[in-house]
Order: sequence, then C-alpha cells, then structure tokens
Amino acid sequence: MQVQIQPLSSTHNCKGFDCGTPPLSKWLVEMANQQQKKNIARTFVLVDDSAPETVLGFYTLAVSEVSRDGLPNLNKYPNRVPVVRLGRFATHTTLQGQGFGEYLLFNALERVVEISLNAGIAAIVVDARDTKAADFYRRYDFLPSLDNPLQLFLLTKALQAAVHQATPKSEP
Ligand SMILES: CC(C)(COP(=O)(O)OP(=O)(O)OC[C@H]1O[C@@H](n2cnc3c(N)ncnc32)[C@H](O)[C@@H]1OP(=O)(O)O)[C@@H](O)C(=O)NCCC(=O)NCCS
Repeated sequence: MQVQIQPLSSTHNCKGFDCGTPPLSKWLVEMANQQQKKNIARTFVLVDDSAPETVLGFYTLAVSEVSRDGLPNLNKYPNRVPVVRLGRFATHTTLQGQGFGEYLLFNALERVVEISLNAGIAAIVVDARDTKAADFYRRYDFLPSLDNPLQLFLLTKALQAAVHQATPKSEP
C-alpha cells in the first residue's frame, strides 16, 4: 500500500469514513470542507495511491490562543500565547494499529514546524477526547497542561528536536 497525505479538496470522498468515534467521523464528512472554505481550519487527508479519492485518515490544524498558565516553562511569556491546535485526528478503523496514525502525526508536526518559521506560535496543543487518546499523544512527548490532563502541549522549541529524532517518517 503506497500512501500519501494531501490537503483536503473537492476530489476527496469522505463519505464512509469510520474511525470508530461517530462524532469525529461525522465531523469529517459534514464539517471539514465547510471550515476549510471559511479558512477556519485546514484538513489534511491520508489516501492510497491506488484509490486517491478515498479518505483513510485525516488531521486538522487551526490557529488558536491559550492561557500561559497551563503551559509549563513559559514564565516570561505574555498571558495569552499563540498556538496551533490539532483539532481533529483519526485513522479508519480498518487501518488502526498499522502505523498510519503515527505517520499522520509526524506529518502534522513537520507542518507545524514549517508554520512556526513563518508565524509566531509557542506550541502545538491538542484536546484529547479521553485518557486513552491522551496516552497516544504522551507517547510522542506531548505534556499535559498543568490545569487539564486532557489538554496536551508540545512546545515549539521541542518540536524541531521531536521531528528530527523520531525515526518512522517513511510510509508505514
Ligand atoms: C488514535 C488514532 C488516531 C491512532 O491511530 P493508529 O493508526 O491506530 O496509530 P498507529 O498504528 O500509528 O499507532 C502508533 C502507536 O501508538 C499506539 N497507540 C495507538 N492508539 C493508542 C492509544 N489510544 N493510546 C495509546 N497508544 C496508542 C500504537 O500501539 C502504536 O504503538 P507501537 O508502535 O508501539 O505499536 C486512532 O486509533 C483513531 O483514529 N482513534 C479514534 C479517534 C481518536 O481517538 N482520535 C484522537 C482524538 S483526540
């Protein structure tokens, strides 16, 4: 299976996407394109070269702002700090556990590093759905917010190292 990650476009078919979490699958089908058209969020999709219209996984990035208080080691920063939010992230149930989630996450991190070179952001932040999802992010050095264990951060200054240190950036 030869896969690639592309910006979501009208050529992609999201119908039938099932990540096992109905609200998340529904969001992709019903909201992703709308938010993209409004320039509120950008979605990137995983496709197989042999059927590039079918979405197999996705993640969404948006610009956001959070209180400095929750982030560790940001004592001398302003009260509100700019971040990129990993708003939605999932792989199709039939592909889970085969490395595609990690592949998507590293692609997102690389993209956030690129964004950070062009606009100031202090961290990438994610609101994990539950403790199981939070465990997934902690594997990749995301740190829990000081006031909410389901909100996790990876500081921009740690991102570059994280992207370069981790190995499986090739396709699963
Ligand atoms: C979470 C999710 C995106 C992971 O995708 P995936 O394709 O299964 O992930 P991978 O196969 O790349 O797994 C990478 C590693 O993380 C581990 N992992 C996967 N899901 C995990 C979880 N929920 N908690 C802890 N570890 C997890 C895998 O075992 C694997 O570790 P290994 O390499 O040591 O075996 C996927 O399970 C999913 O879409 N879940 C439903 C939606 C969801 O919860 N999204 C996150 C919302 S905040």
